[in-house]
Amino acid sequence: MRQAGRIVALVLAELRTAAQAGVTTATLDRLASEIIAREGGEPAFRGYRGYPATICTSVNDEVLHGIPGRRVLRAGDLLKLDVGVRWQGMYADAAVSVVVGRGSQLAHRLVEVVEEAFWAGYTMARPGRYLGDIGAAIEEIVRRNGFSVIEGYAGHGVGRALHEEPSVPNHAEAGRGILLRSGMTLAIEPMISAGSGQTLVKRDGWTVVTRDGSLAAHYEHTVWISESGPVILTQL
Ligand code: MF3
Ligand code: CO
Repeated sequence: MRQAGRIVALVLAELRTAAQAGVTTATLDRLASEIIAREGGEPAFRGYRGYPATICTSVNDEVLHGIPGRRVLRAGDLLKLDVGVRWQGMYADAAVSVVVGRGSQLAHRLVEVVEEAFWAGYTMARPGRYLGDIGAAIEEIVRRNGFSVIEGYAGHGVGRALHEEPSVPNHAEAGRGILLRSGMTLAIEPMISAGSGQTLVKRDGWTVVTRDGSLAAHYEHTVWISESGPVILTQL
């Protein structure tokens, strides 16, 4: 998982720089495919329930699972990049939100808040805490900043498969759910919007958009719960 995570981190670092106005999302997908192959990994999303690409690129009101294609990025776009890699049968999964060029204050605030929400959840990922502590911490940050947690989607266990038990909700009650233990590996992934948390799936069968068209942000890392606390596996 460390190796898979290292490749995910490499890809996200490259994509962050490559995500400029005028670039298509298909170009980012190709770049990701090249890096993953070069590093000896395999894209975890391609073929997953028939998903047709290496990464997910979701723009503005698109929250998740946007399919890369001919769409040209424009200055001000709030882009979500989601990457999963398999390496020798083990998986890692992470996502970032980036503002293309100079964006609105709202876009920048969403990016800040979704990251802050992630770190609040991350802090709870330690032995002796409960699964619900993660979601409660995430939700608290999101609410305090006047944004909404996206409904119907959650983080997940990750390791021998992309999606494993347990589901890791972004809103939960502290002290509820399973007891967290060392050795667990979780994808913690707050998804938030500036409007309501309700979503729709587009006609392509994949792209999740906010129902009210509001801007959305997403941030995710694969986190290992070690004896001494959380360790991020999807960073360099
Ligand atoms: N990180 C996304 C998730 O955990 C990846 C989805 S895989 C896809 O939901 F193939 F469905 F895109
Ligand atoms: Co995930």
